[in-house]
Amino acid sequence: MSHYYSLGNIPHKRHIQFRKPDGSLYSEQLFSTEGFSNDYAILYHCNPPTCIIKTDEPFSVQPKIVEEKMLKPRSFEGFNIKPEDDFLDSRKPVLVNNDCHIVLASPRKSMENYFYKNADADEMIFIHEGTGKLLTQYGEIEFSYGDYLIIPRGSIYQIKFDTAENRLFIVESFSPIRYPRNYLTKAGQLMEHSPFCERDIRTPKNLTTIDEKGDFLIMNKKKGMMYPIHYAYHPFDVVGWDGCCYPYAFSIHNFEPITGRVHLPPPIHQNFEANNFVICSFVPRMYDYHPQSIPAPYNHSNIDSDEVLYYVAGDFMSRKSVTRGMISLHPAGIPHGPHPGTVEKSIGKARTEELAVMVDTFHPLSLTQYAIDTENPDYQYSWME
Ligand SMILES: [Fe+2]
Repeated sequence: MSHYYSLGNIPHKRHIQFRKPDGSLYSEQLFSTEGFSNDYAILYHCNPPTCIIKTDEPFSVQPKIVEEKMLKPRSFEGFNIKPEDDFLDSRKPVLVNNDCHIVLASPRKSMENYFYKNADADEMIFIHEGTGKLLTQYGEIEFSYGDYLIIPRGSIYQIKFDTAENRLFIVESFSPIRYPRNYLTKAGQLMEHSPFCERDIRTPKNLTTIDEKGDFLIMNKKKGMMYPIHYAYHPFDVVGWDGCCYPYAFSIHNFEPITGRVHLPPPIHQNFEANNFVICSFVPRMYDYHPQSIPAPYNHSNIDSDEVLYYVAGDFMSRKSVTRGMISLHPAGIPHGPHPGTVEKSIGKARTEELAVMVDTFHPLSLTQYAIDTENPDYQYSWME
């Protein structure tokens, strides 16, 4: 869900004649992610977006689940995922269910010879390391450390990195990624109590119209398969667009933390939501300020959600031996809580520098081989003194 925005040239009314300088018509495309009943954008192409030259053999990119069901605390060293040159090859699904796939990636190179479209899932790409530009039909978005890139499913994009070492934490969401409903007015404006507002959202800029004929390969991901389709026209041939469905960026560093006298529960950290999961941002903040407060969280039984924490930077107050890029998974069904010694240690501290992204899924996650390969095997025993 985004707010109304417009870039480039568009006609004064939708679905009417809009002509090029040579008198021919621009090609209008309505783009939405939930039929005709959700937010949408209208794009005006120099050429029809439908001209297929050829289709190559599809291939499977379905995550291979090796542990479908389990009930114990797990943790994984995310930075042990090996870098790969190619962006799509580098994406390694780690934890998956029917609502989302949690993916780690360490691509070395920019996408040069192809474009990518995830036809199934909105993508949230969290930039842990790296800088560059997200190129889309809507314009470009510069990104750097701490940015969430939110890309509606079906958007065609390319990523150009300035850097050779890049670390990405990606969530593929099989439903639209939205701002939390309880942050929004009836008209959709972010309310005063929301930890971020419209000024923090970075929309696409510098719309460049590339009116080129040739052979343009778009890698289309659909139902666990990758379909390479060659088109006759450059996909970034848009002269203008408007609407409420487009990619945007939000920096975790602009998330304004909510604090209290005593420990506040995880919903205060919520940043985004989708069907059956939420994404939260844990950011540097003042600790609880009741004279007898305990800043470390209490033990809790998240009986109906799996809790995934991705550790970005800083010391995490309730955990021992946290590494950058580590993922912890605390499954629904058993309680979890602070590590031994961390409760006493947190008392009297004024602030925390922790930075982490949390994904709470309301249905259990399954593990892929990439999770098993990067696992800290003794994590389940780490609460023993
Ligand atoms: Fe928790």
